[in-house]
Amino acid sequence: MTRKVHIKSYGCQMNVYDSSRMAGLLAEIGYRLAETPDEADLVILNTCHIREKASEKVYSDIGRLRALKEKGKAAGRDMTIAVAGCVAQAEGEEIIRRAPVVELVFGPQTYHRLPELLESVAKAKKSNRPAAIVDTEFPVEEKFNHLAKKAPAPGPSAFLTIQEGCDKFCTFCVVPYTRGGEFSRTIEEIALEARGLAARGAREITLLGQNVNAFHGLDKDRNELGLGGLIRRLAGIKGLARIRYTTSHPRDMEDDLIAAHGEIEALMPHLHLPVQSGSDRILKTMNRGHSAGDYLKLVEKIRKSRPDIALSSDFIVGFPGEREEDFEKTLELVREINYAQAYSFKYSPRPGTPAANAPGQIPEAVKADRLAALQQILNAQKQAFNQASVGKKMTVLFERHGKHKGQIVGRNPYMQAVHVVTEDAKNCLGSLKEVEILAAGPNSLKGKLTLPARAQSAA
Ligand code: SAH
Ligand code: SF4
Ligand code: F3S
Repeated sequence: MTRKVHIKSYGCQMNVYDSSRMAGLLAEIGYRLAETPDEADLVILNTCHIREKASEKVYSDIGRLRALKEKGKAAGRDMTIAVAGCVAQAEGEEIIRRAPVVELVFGPQTYHRLPELLESVAKAKKSNRPAAIVDTEFPVEEKFNHLAKKAPAPGPSAFLTIQEGCDKFCTFCVVPYTRGGEFSRTIEEIALEARGLAARGAREITLLGQNVNAFHGLDKDRNELGLGGLIRRLAGIKGLARIRYTTSHPRDMEDDLIAAHGEIEALMPHLHLPVQSGSDRILKTMNRGHSAGDYLKLVEKIRKSRPDIALSSDFIVGFPGEREEDFEKTLELVREINYAQAYSFKYSPRPGTPAANAPGQIPEAVKADRLAALQQILNAQKQAFNQASVGKKMTVLFERHGKHKGQIVGRNPYMQAVHVVTEDAKNCLGSLKEVEILAAGPNSLKGKLTLPARAQSAA
């Protein structure tokens, strides 16, 4: 009998990638993916611990699943609830104490053991023993060796994790604790997976890592390559039209990677380069290892290599000790750079991180005011960037149907979402077409195909 699994991903793209790997492994032991948890035999919550809100959301979701499980029981079904990902790693057994309905907890580095773990849960249930199992070890290398043969088909745009973990220990961040130390996969392994994704229809690959540009992998001849070198190797793969990478740290933007932006056509002109703050004093207490001036110089260099690059960033407001003048420096930096898009967050104290106990915690109301002021500028910059696209022609990789009849949605090289209405969606989805941008909204662009889909060469 086939069983159904529902997997919900929270947090970053690395979790999305891990969830797809889990789906592949589970397909090998007879699980089909279910869109909703309603009739699932197994529900996996692949969680995020980065901010308190993200972390607490898991418990409200577990509450809803508990009700669903009870309902299923009445109909003779048994749902197993599993918690995976970064909350699982950080809280371990605590999850089962707080939510005894959870029967399996496993961290980001042990999902390749999922088939055995599920078997143990099933055995325990059969013999009426308490079934709860916790596996939060760190055998990073192992999990990548388990490439499932039945992995679900990738979409036109696929993720590929090339690096995991972080040794940077920014004082606000849980990642070095939940994902462990930095680890890079080998060039061969990555190239093999990338070729497989391209052969199965992916036209774009986003290389992932918590610190993706700290990547340093060995090739067959044991030469060490950085991210720039890896991208140069992957750029030749048949069918692969676009390469992106995320998330980068300013300290690891090597010259070769910057040069690649000017030289490699497949490398898209968009870069997410988090700066967090524009104040040197705050950057120092955050342990970011660079100043605002270093970041500005870096951006100048990157723009020299690729003048049209769209820049994106992350910001934290209300970090402990942040004074009004520090926050002003952040606004100054934002005005100076002019971002295409950005994420901004109120500082959230995380258990076990140094900043959580630092003096000078900022009141919520101040954080909220600063966030609003920052977002006002960032939104205006985004709007202006979107508006500047109107009238231009650009290639769009169409990924999915939109909400309206005949509407399809894709992304242009700068990561902006582009909506087009066409009678020929079939010939557009999964391929790159040239589009003229007609209008810009706050979060997306509208355009039309410059030529009918079939008249455009299958780029
Ligand atoms: N590796 C990436 C970031 C991963 S976390 C990097 O170094 O940039 C994604 C973003 O979440 C961070 O860039 C930061 O802006 C935000 N973040 C991390 N910890 C946070 C915290 N404790 N409170 C608020 N935002 C946080
Ligand atoms: Fe977290 Fe800093 Fe590492 Fe990014 S570089 S994952 S923010 S510790
Ligand atoms: Fe969240 Fe873990 Fe990613 S904490 S942001 S899911 S690395």
